[in-house]
Amino acid sequence: MASSLSVLLLLCLAAPSSAQLSPRFYARSCPRAQAIIRRGVAAAVRSERRMGASLLRLHFHDCFVQGCDASILLSDTATFTGEQGAGPNAGSIRGMNVIDNIKAQVEAVCTQTVSCADILAVAARDSVVLGGPSWTVPLGRRDSTNANEAAANSDLPPPFFDLVNLTQSFGDKGFTVTDMVALSGAHTIGQAQCQNFRDRLYNETNINSGFATSLKANCPQPTGSGDRNLANLDVSTPYSFDNAYYSNLKSQKGLLHSDQVLFTGTGGGTDNTVNNFASNPAAFSSAFASAMVKMGNLSPLTGSQGQVRLSCSKVN
Ligand code: HEM
Ligand SMILES: *[C@@H]1O[C@H](CO)[C@@H](O)[C@H](O)[C@H]1NC(C)=O
Ligand SMILES: *[C@@H]1O[C@H](CO)[C@@H](O)[C@H](O)[C@H]1NC(C)=O
Repeated sequence: MASSLSVLLLLCLAAPSSAQLSPRFYARSCPRAQAIIRRGVAAAVRSERRMGASLLRLHFHDCFVQGCDASILLSDTATFTGEQGAGPNAGSIRGMNVIDNIKAQVEAVCTQTVSCADILAVAARDSVVLGGPSWTVPLGRRDSTNANEAAANSDLPPPFFDLVNLTQSFGDKGFTVTDMVALSGAHTIGQAQCQNFRDRLYNETNINSGFATSLKANCPQPTGSGDRNLANLDVSTPYSFDNAYYSNLKSQKGLLHSDQVLFTGTGGGTDNTVNNFASNPAAFSSAFASAMVKMGNLSPLTGSQGQVRLSCSKVN
C-alpha cells in the first residue's frame, strides 16, 4: 500500500504541467462550448472546404511558438507586434476570422470562460474528425498576454528543411521522429503556394516527372509571378483526411521538399515509418491522434497564468 502510494506520488511529481489539462474542464462552467465549436467548424468548412486545413495549421503554428496559448491570434497594433507577420505566417495563415466568430458565439453563452487556445485545440480536432481520426482534447489552457515574432521565425520549420533539420526542430519540442512523420500527415489536406515548392519542381530529382510537369503550368520559373498560386498538398485525395499523403511520398509526389525528405531523405531514417503509415491507415490514425494530443500539451498556461481573452485577436 505504502509503496503503491509512493509510486502514485512519483507519477504525479513526474507529470508535466500539462497534466493540469482535463477533457472535462468546461463540463460545469460551459457545457455547451464543445458543441458550439463543432458547429462553427462544420459551418466554416461547408462554406469553404479548405478551412479545416487552415484551422488545423493554426493550432500547430500556435503550439510551436511559446506553447498553445493563442499567441498567434493576436493582431498587430501600432504598439504591439505579434506573430502574424513572421515569415512562416505572413500571407499564409488563415481562419482567424472563423475562430473570432466561434469565440463570439461561445462568449454569448459563457462570459470569459473558454480560452482562445482551447477553442483552437478543439477546432483543430473537429477539422480532422470530419473525415479522419478523432481524439479527446484535454482542456484548461489560458491565453497569453504577449506573442513572440522571433520565436515564430525560429521555431516553425520552413519547407526547405532537410530530414536532419526537421528532426532537430521537432526534437526540440519533445517529439520523436515517428511523431514528426505522423504530424506531417496533416499535409493530407490543404494547399501550399508556388513560392514554397517552386525550387522542388525545377531543381530536384526525387520528384515524379509527370507530377512536376503538371504543377509547373501553374507555378512558372521565378519571375515573381505566380508566387501565390496554390496546389494541393495531397495530389491524390486533397480533401480527405486519409493516409494517401504517405503513398504519394513513395511515388515521389510529395509537394514540399520537407514532405519528400521523409521518404528517401538523406539518412533514410523515416522510410520504414512512411511505409507503415502508407499501408496501415489505422497505424497512421492512432499515431496522428496521439501526436496531436502531445502537441496540444506544449507548455500551456494554466491556473491563474495569462488570461481568458474576451476577443481572440487582442489582449483584454
Ligand atoms: C514538418 C514540418 C512542416 C513544414 C515544413 C510545413 C510547411 C508548410 C507549408 C510551407 C505550407 C503551405 C503554406 C503556404 O504556402 O501558404 C503548409 C501548409 C499546411 N500545413 Fe504544414 N508544415 C509542417 C508540418 C505541419 C504540421 C505538424 C501540421 C499540423 C499538424 C501542418 C499542417 C498544415 C496544413 C493543414 C496546411 C494547409 C493549410 C491550408 O490549406 O490553409 N503542417 N505547411
Ligand atoms: C540543417 O542542419 C545541418 C546540420 O546541422 C546544417 O548544416 C544545415 O545548414 C541545416 N540546413 C538548413 C536549411 O537549415
Ligand atoms: C535552382 O537552382 C539554381 C542554381 O542553384 C538557382 O539559381 C535557382 O534560383 C533555383 N531555383 C529555381 C526555381 O530554378
